[in-house]
Amino acid sequence: MNFDRKILFHAISYLLMGSFLMAANHHAPDSDIETGKKIYHDRCKVCHGDHGDGKTFAANALYPSPKNFTAIKSKEELTRDRMIRSVTKGRPKTAMMPWENVLTQQEISSVVNYIRQELMGSGN
Ligand code: HEC
Repeated sequence: MNFDRKILFHAISYLLMGSFLMAANHHAPDSDIETGKKIYHDRCKVCHGDHGDGKTFAANALYPSPKNFTAIKSKEELTRDRMIRSVTKGRPKTAMMPWENVLTQQEISSVVNYIRQELMGSGN
């Protein structure tokens, strides 16, 4: 292998490695994310906003205001487990109601995956 081809070879291997790593980060299959997206848009967007930043008309009337999923602080404090629990059981004394009688555990998992993957960009 001459020098140029060696560089090309390495460049390609890095690219491939990068896409494998990215793929490995995305645990949820596309169909799960699609389901989560639909649920989010039907049920959650009115308070949390199209992009999850909580900038909605409804937010003006809510105290505490809906979580801004895109804030650094939210990304730090919102583990997947905590989100599942909060969506399932709600958050006492806030407008965040429990969803356990409305959505199945699977649906709650999908919508949390959607928020994490597509709105928080945390990849899992
Ligand atoms: C009526 C408005 C409203 C709707 C609809 C709503 N939320 Fe919320 N949500 C809130 C508010 C207000 C908070 C902030 C609660 C707090 O500060 O503890 C919140 C917080 C959260 C949190 C963070 C909870 C935590 O542990 O800090 C998650 C996750 C969440 N919502 C997910 C959802 C999902 C998923 C849906 C749709 C199935 C949804 N929300 C629908 C108002 C809403």
